[in-house]
Amino acid sequence: MPARIIDGKQIAATLKEQIARDAAQVKSQTGHAPHLTAVLVGDDPASAVYVRNKQLACEKTGLQSTLVRLPAETTGAELLALVNQLNADRSVDGILVQLPLPRQIDPVPILDAVSPLKDVDCFHPENVGLLSQGRPRFLPCTPAGVQQMLVHTGVSIPGSHVVVVGRSDLVGRPLALMLMQKGPAADATVTICHSRTRDLAAVTRTADIVVAAMGKPQFIKADMIRPGVVVIDVGTTRVGDKIVGDVDFAKVSEVAGAISPVPGGVGPMTITMLLANTVLAAKLRMSEHE
Ligand code: GUN
Repeated sequence: MPARIIDGKQIAATLKEQIARDAAQVKSQTGHAPHLTAVLVGDDPASAVYVRNKQLACEKTGLQSTLVRLPAETTGAELLALVNQLNADRSVDGILVQLPLPRQIDPVPILDAVSPLKDVDCFHPENVGLLSQGRPRFLPCTPAGVQQMLVHTGVSIPGSHVVVVGRSDLVGRPLALMLMQKGPAADATVTICHSRTRDLAAVTRTADIVVAAMGKPQFIKADMIRPGVVVIDVGTTRVGDKIVGDVDFAKVSEVAGAISPVPGGVGPMTITMLLANTVLAAKLRMSEHE
């Protein structure tokens, strides 16, 4: 039997209805819709598309969005000055600095400069620290999207063995932290695999849930998973004019019990969690000023 398709677009649409209601409530209480400001430096076409999609999603859910575009030759000092200006701007709830930045700008001091209360990407060390201590303020968008996909598919996470393939700052590491914590959408036994893991397939074959997040197109093959498992594909690699995931979808979907496609899987969920974080940022600032 072919696998059930985990439709990220549809789950995202359901979550967006609630986010739109929450955004409207913030607006009715403060007079302002939650406001996301995205910063795009340079003219990388893929980044421009991502940022545009984030803005469209804001518009559809009743959030305010602003895009600040800076030229490719912007210096680190100039970008830092902009971040500080946005930190101080009381009309801005969430700040997103689109990555990657041009080569001459070190992203670390820039991301560290974003106010932790406006850090809707959850990249700031204070927010990563809170997450690792099991008392998150924001949840990082892609891991939160993966977790919500599992929840909304009715997958029971507690007690299950989740194998996360990939240890990135953005996805693998924070997702592992989230799923091993206490809670109804967590309490998993988590294994992280990476490029140096010995006999990776032997490990993935012990999983109940496999999350592929290492950025290697179609790396996870059908013989690497047990029949009936849940597979979430976080990969997005451009191959020609197509976006390809980290899972060999055609073959793996004949073995898995449920699988998320690329595109239409994790991508729409990531954007949705960004909206949720922006509403949360607005609420945090409301309660600060009470
Ligand atoms: N570039 C690719 N993914 C992301 C993301 O989640 N946040 C930001 N800021 N930039 C990205």
